[in-house]
Amino acid sequence: MRLVLAGFGVVGQSFARLLMAQEKELAATYGLVPQVVGIMDSSGWLTDEHGIDLKKALRAKAETGGVASKAGGKEVPRRPTDVIRDLEAEVLIEATPTNFKTGEPGFSHMKAAFESKKHVVTCNKGPLAIAYYALHELARHNGVQLRFSGAVGGGTPVLDFGKTCSMGDKLTGIRGILNGTCNYILTKMEGEGLPFDDALDGAKKAGYAEADPSLDIDGYDSAVKLVITANHLLLSKAGIKDVKVKGIRGMSAKEVQKAKKDGKAVRLIASASRETGLTVAPTLIERDHPLCINGANNAVEFECEYSGPKVIIGKGAGGPETASSLLRDLLEIRGRINGPAEAIASYRMSGVGGG
Ligand code: HSE
Repeated sequence: MRLVLAGFGVVGQSFARLLMAQEKELAATYGLVPQVVGIMDSSGWLTDEHGIDLKKALRAKAETGGVASKAGGKEVPRRPTDVIRDLEAEVLIEATPTNFKTGEPGFSHMKAAFESKKHVVTCNKGPLAIAYYALHELARHNGVQLRFSGAVGGGTPVLDFGKTCSMGDKLTGIRGILNGTCNYILTKMEGEGLPFDDALDGAKKAGYAEADPSLDIDGYDSAVKLVITANHLLLSKAGIKDVKVKGIRGMSAKEVQKAKKDGKAVRLIASASRETGLTVAPTLIERDHPLCINGANNAVEFECEYSGPKVIIGKGAGGPETASSLLRDLLEIRGRINGPAEAIASYRMSGVGGG
């Protein structure tokens, strides 16, 4: 399966590493032999129709800061959308830096992929929050798939879990922690008494924060994920402007410590319900509540009319984590084209088990 990778930052590089680390497993278990034929970052394009040497590309990125410069390929002085259209490939992996105002360049990349009959796997939140229905329509119209499980929950399949919860039941509300950076900051302030700025620096160094971390701390990253979640699971027609947003910027150590003393914790909670609409705000919760999680984790509670509440918890940010969601989506797409991955996997596993 030929792939084009747009975006070679923390997530894009992690995805390349994961493909290499899982190479044998992917072929043996799922029959997937991925071949990356194009990689784009801010330095330009590296293309090779026979498959890029990912080790070389990663080395070039580490040494020069750009993939196009010295990895054995050549800079392509053409518009990225034209390159995406022209490359012979089945799937675009879109992991460029997100833009919550315009959705660009991710939106145009995805549009170019759909129009040239390529499936899209993305963790790019901006285009999804701004043009959720338009992107789905474009995919449908061109007979290809759009998958985006890494856009919410990082490595944790929040959207898929929510979809499963809603089958045969009815979701009446969703609430949870959707931003790993804020949760990391609040946990560090609470547990180690770190000042806000030091805790934020830690989140940046760990690769959790957005390129512009104000999107995290002002609550917009949570708001965007809430919009995607509500549109996907509650069939809302929401946009970012429909969310009442308050972030954690300026949260004082005193406030966090007081909550702790009272047996509670401050967490940035995103919530969608018929009564209150869409909100993001720092909220006091009981320390023994399932949503009271630590570090760069996410936790989401789905309230179901007939079966009650269910919570999913897991890592919500980070390169390897989000890359694993991209790979999971890729396997889903492959399964839909070639038959369910589980069927192939169980067939192969039984072969192994039976000698
Ligand atoms: N900045 C985001 C977060 C990355 O901290 O949750 C994952 O979407």
